[in-house]
Amino acid sequence: MIAQTLDAKRILLVIGGGIAAYKCLDLIRRLRERGARVRVVMTKAATEFVTPLSVGALSNDRVFTELFDLDDEREIGHIRLARDADLIVVAPASADLLAKMATGLAPDLATAVLLAAAVPVLVAPAMNPKMWENPATRRNVALLRADGVGFVGPNAGEMAERGEAGVGRMAEPMEILAAIEARLTGARPLAGIRMLITAGPTHEPIDPVRYIANRSSGKQGYAIAAAAARAGAAVTLVSGPVTLPDPAGVAVVRVETAREMLAAALAALPADVAVMAAAVADWRVRAEAGEKIKKDGSGVVPSLAFVENPDILATIGHHASLRPGLVVGFAAETQDLIANATRKLEKKGADFIVANDVSPETGIMGGDRNTVRIVSRDGVEDWPDMGKDAVAERLVTAIAQRLGRAAHGA
Ligand SMILES: Cc1cc2nc3c(=O)[nH]c(=O)nc-3n(C[C@H](O)[C@H](O)[C@H](O)COP(=O)(O)O)c2cc1C
Repeated sequence: MIAQTLDAKRILLVIGGGIAAYKCLDLIRRLRERGARVRVVMTKAATEFVTPLSVGALSNDRVFTELFDLDDEREIGHIRLARDADLIVVAPASADLLAKMATGLAPDLATAVLLAAAVPVLVAPAMNPKMWENPATRRNVALLRADGVGFVGPNAGEMAERGEAGVGRMAEPMEILAAIEARLTGARPLAGIRMLITAGPTHEPIDPVRYIANRSSGKQGYAIAAAAARAGAAVTLVSGPVTLPDPAGVAVVRVETAREMLAAALAALPADVAVMAAAVADWRVRAEAGEKIKKDGSGVVPSLAFVENPDILATIGHHASLRPGLVVGFAAETQDLIANATRKLEKKGADFIVANDVSPETGIMGGDRNTVRIVSRDGVEDWPDMGKDAVAERLVTAIAQRLGRAAHGA
């Protein structure tokens, strides 16, 4: 008896035109054995390699090939095909299909479905090694990866053409199956976890029109919120003033000042995990002027007195009753990075500190990349220079591991 690992999961399989299309017959059988419902779209070229008759017999459903089929458009058009699935798998993904996907072209049913897709997409490329190595294909693959498309394979080995070898063989059906299972079952390691994330700067008013702020863009915190939500967490993102759109599937609470951020963060508790990525102003102006401060011509400049803001990380890290099980702080420093981060770990009651050097020459503040060091009681782990999205994914994996959850999927 085969375990029903994909019970009631809806897979839309797009078969492209390549010799490896025959392997999809085996893939469909194995998916259905595991309880998945498989619906198939074939490109015109794919039908030259395997017949819709064989594919339909194995999927036990009709096979979709035409974009301009009036009945289909009325009953189940390309938009519904794209939406009515938990995962779209493209196998084999021809060089041509990858190019169309990367460019957003939609001349036929398969590509129109892919362009309309609102669900994750996993591709299994298959092509001659020269096609795979071609700079155009390299560019297309890089674009698709950046768009969040998942890849399985291609593998190295003999090609169908005699005497040809190299990278380009489609992954075996069992490998594709494992990638599908990881995506649909193991890729939500934070399912059921409540997470509080703070991001962005705070604005501390001087008078009704002026404020004190810092250069935080919020990009890293927003990326973590998006990655955590993708991993299944119920995320509340308390955000200072930034120009970023709300991440998908995240409850966003927008605030201005440190005091508002603290109140919103406390209101989001209890939570299992807190990630405090906001760059909270340490001080605010003691007495905010009720009216705009005017130049009076006397040459006397106003002097501002400051008071300390509440320490949000320390408040939550040391909270007697509502401290989340895991508290992650951020340390943006311009000097003595590790010494400061280690001190912060203790002082703020954090489990780990994500430390980064925000000296202007690093370009980290406001930029898209980040080089971080993870400081915990186990020591310091250096992560390489990465995009902020990649840092977010890796941090989510580290959090999942710390919570004893399986690592992030394919
Ligand atoms: C015998 C034969 C084998 C082919 N094998 C592949 C292949 O493995 N990978 C690929 O990208 N293209 C392959 N092609 C070329 C594609 O079929 C062609 O680019 C087609 O336009 C792809 O259409 P599609 O992307 O809409 O499926 C092959 C063509 C022929 C005639």
